[in-house]
Amino acid sequence: MNAARAQALAAETAIPAVYTDYRKMLDEVQPDITVVATPNVFHREMSIAALQAGSNVLCEKPLAPSYAEAVEMFEVARANNRVLTVGSHMRFNDNTQMAKRQADAGFFGKIYASRTTWHRRSGIPGFGGWFTNRELAAGGVLLDLGVHALDRALYIMDFPTPVTVSGAVFAELGSRGRGIGGWGMDSLQPVPVEKRRFDVDDMAWAFVRFDTGAVLQFQVAWAANFPDFWTTELFGTEGGALIDERNKAEFYTTVNGADAVIQVPPPGTPAQSYGVLAANFVRHLEGDPTAEIVTPAQALISVQIVDAISRSAQAGREIEIARA
Ligand SMILES: NC(=O)c1ccc[n+]([C@@H]2O[C@H](COP(=O)([O-])OP(=O)(O)OC[C@H]3O[C@@H](n4cnc5c(N)ncnc54)[C@H](O)[C@@H]3O)[C@@H](O)[C@H]2O)c1
Repeated sequence: MNAARAQALAAETAIPAVYTDYRKMLDEVQPDITVVATPNVFHREMSIAALQAGSNVLCEKPLAPSYAEAVEMFEVARANNRVLTVGSHMRFNDNTQMAKRQADAGFFGKIYASRTTWHRRSGIPGFGGWFTNRELAAGGVLLDLGVHALDRALYIMDFPTPVTVSGAVFAELGSRGRGIGGWGMDSLQPVPVEKRRFDVDDMAWAFVRFDTGAVLQFQVAWAANFPDFWTTELFGTEGGALIDERNKAEFYTTVNGADAVIQVPPPGTPAQSYGVLAANFVRHLEGDPTAEIVTPAQALISVQIVDAISRSAQAGREIEIARA
């Protein structure tokens, strides 16, 4: 949107052309791949325009705030024979990958419960900018950290079908100018104090039941009067695990009747999860069947849960998710 800044970045990184109108860019460049990395409310319309222009699309998370919009996006992808995927890269974290491999190999037995969290003490991004403005963000932490937290747990659980959701959202700190985080602020174009807007959620908790009988507890916060935590916990009939996304992975099982803890040290050089996501997308488009991306079915389950958390929070009670 800011031509001067776009031109400066393009010069620095040898990008050959700059556009301030994305439709003109799609028309002239005819890209094979489009990455939609704009404020959340533009994801739907920009992804659809790119797919209709013949591009494959990596859309940033959240794909869409509502299930109906996400369904529409995948329908357009299918109609245009193009691939649409979403930037939920945290499943490619080393520890999450390790837990997934153990789940697939049967370490956990049946995973009947899970808890997934991402709580920040003070981490509201871009306070007063688009992240905290409902007209541009469509929501707060639920759509931001919530999408990542959900994907990590659902991925390890193999995306069971959700049947009921009970959710609650809060805006107790951000609405009073507290819990402001240290990133996402535009130092070149700071938002004047009087224009700083906060009308989204800063904490969201939920409880989800799946058709397998398994349950998921979900806790995310941009800000709360509580220390940071960032975990995926798995409870299985044969084993369990605590994945601390910062560095620790601990697995639990029983060995000949004794409780055992298996500690897995962090890998020496952690993979850059976003790099893995992007490389996989390209390999997938090149026809590599081993290149794992976020599939439409997986993305839709996540959006369905997030959408249901919002609706449940608004209704103040548990709600059922309609079966397709
Ligand atoms: N996957 C992840 O871990 C991850 C991390 C950060 C951000 N994101 C997502 O990426 C998206 C962008 O976030 P960000 O932090 O990069 O925001 P940002 O504010 O840094 O960048 C947004 C960009 O969108 C452009 N833009 C705004 N309105 C536009 C419009 N109407 N038309 C065209 N361009 C427009 C701006 O010029 C800017 O370049 C968000 O959806 C966010 O949730 C994902």
